[in-house]
Amino acid sequence: MPSSKYLARDAVRLVIEKLKKPGRDPISILELGPGTGTFTERILPELGEEDRFDVVELNNYFYKMLRRRFRDNRTVRLFHKDFLAFQSDHKYDFVLSSLPYERISASVTRLLWEHKLSLCKPGSYIIYYKYVNFNHFRSRFEKSLVRDYLHDEKVVLLNMPPARLLTLKVQMHNSDQLASVVGNKSIRNVAAG
Ligand SMILES: C[S@@+](CC[C@H](N)C(=O)[O-])C[C@H]1O[C@@H](n2cnc3c(N)ncnc32)[C@H](O)[C@@H]1O
Repeated sequence: MPSSKYLARDAVRLVIEKLKKPGRDPISILELGPGTGTFTERILPELGEEDRFDVVELNNYFYKMLRRRFRDNRTVRLFHKDFLAFQSDHKYDFVLSSLPYERISASVTRLLWEHKLSLCKPGSYIIYYKYVNFNHFRSRFEKSLVRDYLHDEKVVLLNMPPARLLTLKVQMHNSDQLASVVGNKSIRNVAAG
């Protein structure tokens, strides 16, 4: 089931705020797992020509639907891929993620997080949600990141199921700093400085 309009509104709030700021610099956004485009459709009208909006969707049906829905928009770039196979030499200001960690093992969750971090600029925001009936962290890596980078959190009851929306601010920007945050020296991909 797509996220409710309440969760969608809260999930994109910070992105929209930054996009609406007068005289701002170009902003780059990466969206993971857009599904039917509940979040995507709110961001698109606010983008300027210099902004960048990359969207990665694994599911073929959703990808084709998004391509049809947003075919007239020249700023958004849709990628039909598993996020782990998504390569970019670009670093993003925002990573907006709907990846369903409830159904992903701890080891793959960690790889997904490492990959997300590798695509973040220092000071960028990662926004994602967890369903409240799945409130624990399957991955210790994710738990450490939330402990150290949490910027904001909110429970959105008007969603099926209710969701806990988390915003992390990625402060660290080299491998030693990040390794000390998560307590593991074996991290390969980190937010580059
Ligand atoms: C819970 S749905 C969220 C859809 C939408 N963002 C919303 O909130 O209504 C999760 C989405 O993530 C996509 N997805 C799951 N694993 C993925 C992966 N590894 N790479 C890219 N997309 C993925 C699914 O196909 C699905 O569209």
